[in-house]
Amino acid sequence: MERVYYGGDYYPEHWPDGIWEDDRKLMAEAAVSLVTVGIFSWAQVEPRPGEFDFGKVDQTLDNLAEAGIRACLATMTASPPPWLSHQHPEILPVRADGTRLSAGARQQFCPSSPVFRRYAARLVDRVATRYADHPALELWHIGNEFGCHIRECYCEASAVDFRRWLAERYGTIDALNAAWSTTFWSQRYSGFAEIEPPRVAPTFPNPAHKLDFHRFSSDASLGAYLNEREILARITPDVPVTTNFVGLVQKSLDWHKWVQHEDIVSLDSYPDPYDARSHLEAAFGYDLVRSLKGGQPWLLMEQATSAVNWRTRNSPKPPGTMRLGSWQAVARGADSVLFFQWRQTPGGAEKFHSAMVPHGGADTRIFREVRELGQELASAPQIAGSRVQADVAILHDWNSWWALELNSHPSDDLTQLDAHLAHYAPFFDANITCDVVHPSHDLSGYRLVVVPNLYLMDRAVAANLRSYVEGGGHLAVSFFSGIADENDRVYEGGYPAPLRDLLGLRVDEFWPLPEGGSTTMHLDGTRAGASVWSEWIESEGADIVATFAEGPLAGRPAVTRNEFGSGVAWYLGTRPDPTVMRTLFDRITAEADVSPVLPGLPDGVQAVVRRGGTDYLFLLNHNSVPVTVSLPSPGTDVLTDPAPPSSEVDLAPYGVAVLSGQFGKDAR
Ligand code: GLA
Repeated sequence: MERVYYGGDYYPEHWPDGIWEDDRKLMAEAAVSLVTVGIFSWAQVEPRPGEFDFGKVDQTLDNLAEAGIRACLATMTASPPPWLSHQHPEILPVRADGTRLSAGARQQFCPSSPVFRRYAARLVDRVATRYADHPALELWHIGNEFGCHIRECYCEASAVDFRRWLAERYGTIDALNAAWSTTFWSQRYSGFAEIEPPRVAPTFPNPAHKLDFHRFSSDASLGAYLNEREILARITPDVPVTTNFVGLVQKSLDWHKWVQHEDIVSLDSYPDPYDARSHLEAAFGYDLVRSLKGGQPWLLMEQATSAVNWRTRNSPKPPGTMRLGSWQAVARGADSVLFFQWRQTPGGAEKFHSAMVPHGGADTRIFREVRELGQELASAPQIAGSRVQADVAILHDWNSWWALELNSHPSDDLTQLDAHLAHYAPFFDANITCDVVHPSHDLSGYRLVVVPNLYLMDRAVAANLRSYVEGGGHLAVSFFSGIADENDRVYEGGYPAPLRDLLGLRVDEFWPLPEGGSTTMHLDGTRAGASVWSEWIESEGADIVATFAEGPLAGRPAVTRNEFGSGVAWYLGTRPDPTVMRTLFDRITAEADVSPVLPGLPDGVQAVVRRGGTDYLFLLNHNSVPVTVSLPSPGTDVLTDPAPPSSEVDLAPYGVAVLSGQFGKDAR
């Protein structure tokens, strides 16, 4: 990329042709450089089966090319036209309770459906052939938000595909029976044909069956994606391909698997303006997305200029916060700031969703902010391509997330995203940058690795953690990690069996807290709060850092520290309250020699560095009051007209500064 792209979803088909003159003028004013075209165009370009009319899309792409605006061109398969489900109702997805969903919204297809895939492939072939050499074409956008509305499908085509998937995974029915522990409750299968998707059943379904259905469902959507990807690879091998992941972190798709088939990762991000800490979850999502391809810059494919329409109450974004949120994504590695959508539509389900050009037109607060941000981004093209580096890794694995949140566990209160954010917050607040990586990732480059409740852990991952610590790494593992193998079978021999020697302890029994309950610990002579969980820990060599202070576990270990090889492994047997978590991680990071991007920043100020030919320091003020930041070495403001380097930066309420200089490790 030669700049940070700016723009959004562009649907001129909602207006008469003359709208282009106004769009062209306003796009130029806002320095729009990339728009996404055609996501929901299927019914328009193929009004009847096999009859194609690309007139509108041709015109749109020609207009864009002439204006020097690049196109992220959709494959147009996100919402099949009514004629398709009318002729082939079997493509409509089915819920676990057997309800077949109707057409009339969007994403109304079963990802495994061979009929859907056949019609989608025919369309994609047409689209790719037609626009392969179009001068506006920058990249392909396959489908839209796979797995957003249809996370799983339980129809007969899915059942057939699931059996095929299982046969490939296990080879024999005996291997499946062993992996699924089917001796329990008389669930033994005598052939793959007997297996159904885990539809609604009298009581708890087999957890390994459920876990495999999660894996299968992600792969089924991936299959629908690859159905299109293969056509694009054949017709336009040099045009990069992406698909937009939903939300900040999405449970339904294993992004680690998906990104192997994407040239560039893209994300849609809709933090809730009513939530004063929504930038925390946003940052976590951005760090995860950036880490998916080893730090390669990613695309912020969609966000809102202001309110969305799909929450029960939809807050606008207060002045300045759209800019702040946009720079937050760039700071954490995005090379684009794109919105849903360019112009606010007068009709349809999303007519009250904000856009770059609102119903009120250009003379609106939103468009003024859109224009200013576009010009600002255009003035700083040098940021594109620079990279974020982190000393800390947080481990995340979709398989473990799925398994952690299956039912029949000690507590339903233990959920993955809450766990992640509880462990991420102390780093975020301390301005310590984290990558979020798969547990099998090479960890040797990190000073500290954090493992939030990684319930499912295969032996290779346990070995990865051991060798990391043996080699001098610092590791912090929280409770209910390393409990089950890849088939959700508990490791016998005392919890967490594959980590016992590394952690220097054994967990005798889990003591989860009642709903809304809390407990306390003795930590450094103070009484510290905790929630969600407690457990009976027997130290087998680990030093006891904190003990439970009440109830049947009083006096027993709650937090431990164990030296192993040349490194250190910490263990948290409960979820410390946020301030306690911060105190603990301040100690852990100090021992691991991890330092913040900038020390002593005012609360609510985020600092991140991207490194390129020079360092870019991003300072983001999430406070509604101004703050002044002192820099250890002078920086040059990238966003203002030439100004002398300075060591003091004034940030307005919700203000942003980007400085170039030396802010990297060597400068600290
Ligand atoms: C998603 C979709 C868009 C639009 C927005 C609204 O991101 O991809 O088509 O519906 O949500 O927030």
